[in-house]
Amino acid sequence: MSKPLRIALAGLGTVGGGVAKVLADPELAARAGRMFEIVAASVRDRKKDRGFDTSRINFVDDAVALARGDADVVVELIGGEDGVALALVETALANGKHVVTGNKALLAKHGARLAALAETNGVALKWEAAVAGGIPVVKVLRESLVAYGVSAVRGILNGTCNYILTQMEATGRTFADVLAEAQKLGYAEADPELDVGGGDTAHKLVLLASLAFGTVPDQKNIAVEGIKDITTEDIRFAHEFGYRIKLLGIARRTGKGIDQLVRPAMVKAGTPLADVDGVFNAVMANAGPAGRYFFEGRGAGEAPTAMSVISDILDVARGSFGPSFGRPATTLKPLEPADPGAATSAYYLRFEVLDVPGVLADIAAKLAESRVSIESMIQRGRSPGEPVSIVMITHETAQASVERALKAIAASDKVRARPCMIPMEAA
Ligand SMILES: NC(=O)c1ccc[n+]([C@@H]2O[C@H](COP(=O)([O-])OP(=O)(O)OC[C@H]3O[C@@H](n4cnc5c(N)ncnc54)[C@H](OP(=O)(O)O)[C@@H]3O)[C@@H](O)[C@H]2O)c1
Repeated sequence: MSKPLRIALAGLGTVGGGVAKVLADPELAARAGRMFEIVAASVRDRKKDRGFDTSRINFVDDAVALARGDADVVVELIGGEDGVALALVETALANGKHVVTGNKALLAKHGARLAALAETNGVALKWEAAVAGGIPVVKVLRESLVAYGVSAVRGILNGTCNYILTQMEATGRTFADVLAEAQKLGYAEADPELDVGGGDTAHKLVLLASLAFGTVPDQKNIAVEGIKDITTEDIRFAHEFGYRIKLLGIARRTGKGIDQLVRPAMVKAGTPLADVDGVFNAVMANAGPAGRYFFEGRGAGEAPTAMSVISDILDVARGSFGPSFGRPATTLKPLEPADPGAATSAYYLRFEVLDVPGVLADIAAKLAESRVSIESMIQRGRSPGEPVSIVMITHETAQASVERALKAIAASDKVRARPCMIPMEAA
């Protein structure tokens, strides 16, 4: 056996704790052909009970000191886009140490620069755990789907949002109700904004886009909408039309630039993405003439995420690693964004209107003025005097046209609340 791989572990929380436990398994060493040795670790609170024996771990107070010690590889599982995590990763790479991380926020912001630093110093920067937990999609995009390139990646990348939408559909309960339950069950953070606002999906999406298109991870040119405005009514109507609402991250090459979007979408029931339930994640990639590929699995939690970290550590142990984003960092290009208004789709539209004569005709006229044509419509009454819902599915239309029509419709005094607009995603 070659000499042991010396590992410094920054963070022994959900993921770091899982990684420490697996590293002790002799089967892993047998597979790698060398032993793994945790030479040092850093946490906030050494006294915390972590559910495994930490008595032989050499703890250091300052996590950044791990980057200056005798480890071959630093595993960063603290989190955060800047601060200690950034200082640790930068210092480790500059000191010629391999880095494995699960930190999507850090990579979405500093990925290209850190990848260049790794290459300059001839070391690995690996991050399988940063996107979709246990699904090995980073490896697939970086190493496998490369012959013909990838024209589009779509994914359900946030288990909290998918759990909430699945529960809203199954139980008819509101967003706020299900979110509160998810927080109790530990599926949602006390501050859920990063998840339900779409920011976490955005971090992962820009990384997938970078792998797919050879672009610098770009958080500026991305339209992000979360799931907070999705109502039980929308979910019921979606069901009636044969669709399910999912929060999708979409990155696709168009004739004129690259589109990056995070938004709720109507996905046809019975298609692979629509069938992804609960906390599961999924990624679909179009690989040109090689066809479409679909991956589903657990997107978070100790075991799935530790599995991805371990897979990266194993690659480092074997010396099998290439550039962090699948091509030399210096060749990553700035992302040229497509015009979001030019994107075309069919749309689900819901209006809450006063039940008075002429309101439907007004809406239809304003849609027609913007050349938006209607494929189907449902109108639902409530008790007398209360607003009614009018729901429409449009034919394929440019986003800008629908937005223009909705702006005009929203200005009417017969329309209550902001109209809801959700794209219908192709299967
Ligand atoms: N959890 C998941 O399912 C999942 C999935 C994919 C990716 N990730 C990513 O993996 C990373 C870790 O996530 P996690 O869920 O394992 O987080 P976590 O459970 O909160 O663990 C964070 C760890 O970092 C330690 N820590 C915090 N600040 C520190 C500091 N200044 N110096 C040294 N140690 C410090 C904490 O110490 P104490 O234990 O003493 O507080 C804890 O052990 C994040 O980047 C996250 O985005 C997580």
